[in-house]
Amino acid sequence: MNTAPIQHIVVVTGASRGLGHAIASQLLAQPGTRLLAIARSDTTLIGPPGQVYESWRADLADPVPLARRLQDWLEAAVAQSPDAAVSMIHNAAMLSAPGWLAAASDAELSVSMRVNLEAPLVLSAAFLRSTAASRGVRKLLLISSGLGRRAMAGAVPYCAAKAGMDHLARALALEEAQQAGGAKVVSLAPGVIATDMQMQLRSADPALFPEQERFAGLHASGALDSPETAAAKVLRVLSSADFGSEPVTDVRGSA
Ligand SMILES: NC(=O)c1ccc[n+]([C@@H]2O[C@H](COP(=O)([O-])OP(=O)(O)OC[C@H]3O[C@@H](n4cnc5c(N)ncnc54)[C@H](OP(=O)(O)O)[C@@H]3O)[C@@H](O)[C@H]2O)c1
Repeated sequence: MNTAPIQHIVVVTGASRGLGHAIASQLLAQPGTRLLAIARSDTTLIGPPGQVYESWRADLADPVPLARRLQDWLEAAVAQSPDAAVSMIHNAAMLSAPGWLAAASDAELSVSMRVNLEAPLVLSAAFLRSTAASRGVRKLLLISSGLGRRAMAGAVPYCAAKAGMDHLARALALEEAQQAGGAKVVSLAPGVIATDMQMQLRSADPALFPEQERFAGLHASGALDSPETAAAKVLRVLSSADFGSEPVTDVRGSA
């Protein structure tokens, strides 16, 4: 068991695969990290010998019970390590099958908004409440998308949720700036990454998804970051001294 004092308590959602898995793996390699990983399926990380992490299986389509559990966990973690920095990287998201809005079922649309917008809102509130007593720096990093800023046909719910996430960050950053010890808040577009989500976009039916060819071209030309490269970029933003100076930003520069 690693006995390094806890310097950083960090929660990563969507840690079972893709970008979230790479972020969680890189965090686990940092000594003094207490990591909680969340996804619907098991999260398996390989860290340095003795470095442990906790992993929960939970569905963000039902965020309220998860938020309560997270709040209890964070309160206890902060009580044990009151001087540690505390971060939440809300990375989990789902992309519905690309296609026209009117062809999607109401149930599918509702789940998409719960996972992609309701969950980040509810979990952000739980994070802020449960870490208020911390003497460490508190950072809330929401993983957004360029598609929250540029509209795309065939992905209306995803575009709407990510635009909502960006504005959530802007409004929340204003609130936190008014409080002593307020959290720093960032909604970050992580670039284009070789994950299941990109595969879904380039494999979509071009008749229902006009930009299919563009996504196929990005892949064919090698323009995608590996999850490991993208994770390193995300973690550079998280650890930067000016984290939170721009609540909506992009790993490639300003939004
Ligand atoms: N890939 C890109 O090019 C790209 C570009 C811009 C932004 N992004 C953003 O980057 C983030 C990571 O994307 P990615 O490409 O790594 O996606 P991904 O490969 O599809 O992984 C999504 C992660 O979210 C989890 N997840 C999905 N639905 C969930 C649910 N209902 N409850 C709990 N966990 C859930 C998945 O785990 P389980 O299936 O085990 O639940 C998985 O760990 C997302 O916020 C995405 O919008 C990605």
